[in-house]
Amino acid sequence: MTSTDKIYSRLAGTGSALPPLRLTNADLVARLAERGVESSDDWIVERTGIRARHFVAPGVNSSDLATGAARHAMEAAGVGPQDIDLVIVATSTPDMVFPSTACIVQRKLGITHGAPAFDVQAVCSGFIYAMTIADAMVRAGTARHALVIGAEVFSRILDFDDRGTCVLFGDGAGAVVLSASPTPGILATDIHADGSHVDILCVPGTVSGGQILGDPLLKMDGQAVFKLAVGVLEDTARASLAKAGRVAADIDWLIPHQANIRIMQSTARKLKLPMDKVIVTVDSHGNTSAASIPLALDVGVRSGKIQRGQTLMLEGVGGGFTWGSVLLDY
Ligand code: UT7
Repeated sequence: MTSTDKIYSRLAGTGSALPPLRLTNADLVARLAERGVESSDDWIVERTGIRARHFVAPGVNSSDLATGAARHAMEAAGVGPQDIDLVIVATSTPDMVFPSTACIVQRKLGITHGAPAFDVQAVCSGFIYAMTIADAMVRAGTARHALVIGAEVFSRILDFDDRGTCVLFGDGAGAVVLSASPTPGILATDIHADGSHVDILCVPGTVSGGQILGDPLLKMDGQAVFKLAVGVLEDTARASLAKAGRVAADIDWLIPHQANIRIMQSTARKLKLPMDKVIVTVDSHGNTSAASIPLALDVGVRSGKIQRGQTLMLEGVGGGFTWGSVLLDY
């Protein structure tokens, strides 16, 4: 490449990590029954499409899952710790208040040459936000190989007395290496937030003076989130397509945030895409927040469904309220 050549960012490799403990709906329903909370496999499958989720063991943190996913992605991309010059972790369940989970991951991976590392907090849209930032930094020439990770341990912030939320979420991590390339790569990104909806999906507690202030468990107005999600997912997909001069029919794989199969079906319908063009992992992972999109991407790649040269639409939506999309040629 000469100095006048345009630089793009391109997906060089993907990876993921799931904790070994897998709970089916039946396992979870039995655990909930012990505390007097009633649910059923039928309700969970019918209303969400979820059949199982993974939960971490005590002592396992987001940085552990993130590091595992990152190692897979680096191996797939053929790069080592010395090549990585940017680490971004999207998470709402960081290991500690500070430093960032990204700095902890950087240490665990042995990236020792001072590459910048920071977290992005945009809840379930976090990976889309992180990709948008990494894409801009790669295109600007600031980074050549960016590690972009979504990692969560939502099992730590669930209220197991609230059946409306505790059956929905799981733990996991997904990662990509985004590398500088003379050809795209990422074609368009589109991110948004509307802070007027802060209260519909939140963990309102915080740490203050050595105490937890407020409620440190997840609260959600599911119907309000559902209604907003189905609208913005169509809008942001169309916005990215318009920026890139593409149309929905050009999409080979839609990889949406994995929260609820009904939201995915509605988005696919609005974009006139058949469900066999949608990567679905919500059945086996539940909603893993910022990890869900890179996890689904890696499952799609490793299963052989997603092939080089295909066009992918990644889209996320979540607390904030935040939403966005990334359109790319794989
Ligand atoms: O990651 C960020 C994005 N998050 C999302 O996209 C989540 C969006 N929201 C949703 O996916 C859905 O709103 C839910 C799956 C959370 C809930 O589905 P819903 O169809 O909106 O159910 P609902 O909240 O209206 O509840 C219907 C009924 C209620 O009973 P009544 O009042 O009709 O007697 C609930 O108490 O279902 C009951 N219910 C349950 N029953 C058995 C709620 N949770 C459960 C449960 N098991 N786990």
